[in-house]
Amino acid sequence: MTQQHPADEDFSRRFRNALGMFATGITVVTTRGPGGEPIGLTVNSFNSVSLDPALVVWSLSNSLPSKPVFEACEYYAINVLAEDQAELSQRFASRLDDKFDGLAFDEGVGGVPLLRGCCARFECRNTVRHPGGDHLVFISEVLGFERHERAPLIYFGGTYRRLAA
Ligand SMILES: Cc1cc2nc3c(=O)[nH]c(=O)nc-3n(C[C@H](O)[C@H](O)[C@H](O)COP(=O)(O)O)c2cc1C
Repeated sequence: MTQQHPADEDFSRRFRNALGMFATGITVVTTRGPGGEPIGLTVNSFNSVSLDPALVVWSLSNSLPSKPVFEACEYYAINVLAEDQAELSQRFASRLDDKFDGLAFDEGVGGVPLLRGCCARFECRNTVRHPGGDHLVFISEVLGFERHERAPLIYFGGTYRRLAA
């Protein structure tokens, strides 16, 4: 196994490249800000945790402007993007002032935005948060969910992919 000290100048790049070998889906995590404004960001750190109780996990960078909002909110939604939604992933990974401009969405528990055209949508209670280095790890109680028969958007090696037919 290659031993690499974190102080090595290319450790971060090599670590990211190794992590990129783990193929994931893409989600957009959404909530409402203190003034009721819709908030959301692209997240691929989502995963399942527990079936009973129903728990999922995702992590949020400490450096992001939306961190205080997600820390304080009571509910959020996790929207699993479909293969034709790469543009939405880019939009929610950007620093646009209003990422929801012109975007029609539904509302879930506590008014959380639910994006349309997704593979699955999970409505969650903001239950437990753990510090995790430069990220905050959210473990969420799933209050409701939907599944749609659509192919997922895949993220692998830093690029978007589709499942082979
Ligand atoms: C494919 C992809 C996956 C991402 N996953 C995460 C993640 O799991 N956690 C995170 O904090 N940021 C993640 N990001 C970065 C955020 O989406 C990005 O920094 C965004 O601008 C944050 O929104 P904000 O500036 O409104 O806070 C990801 C970005 C991309 C493109």
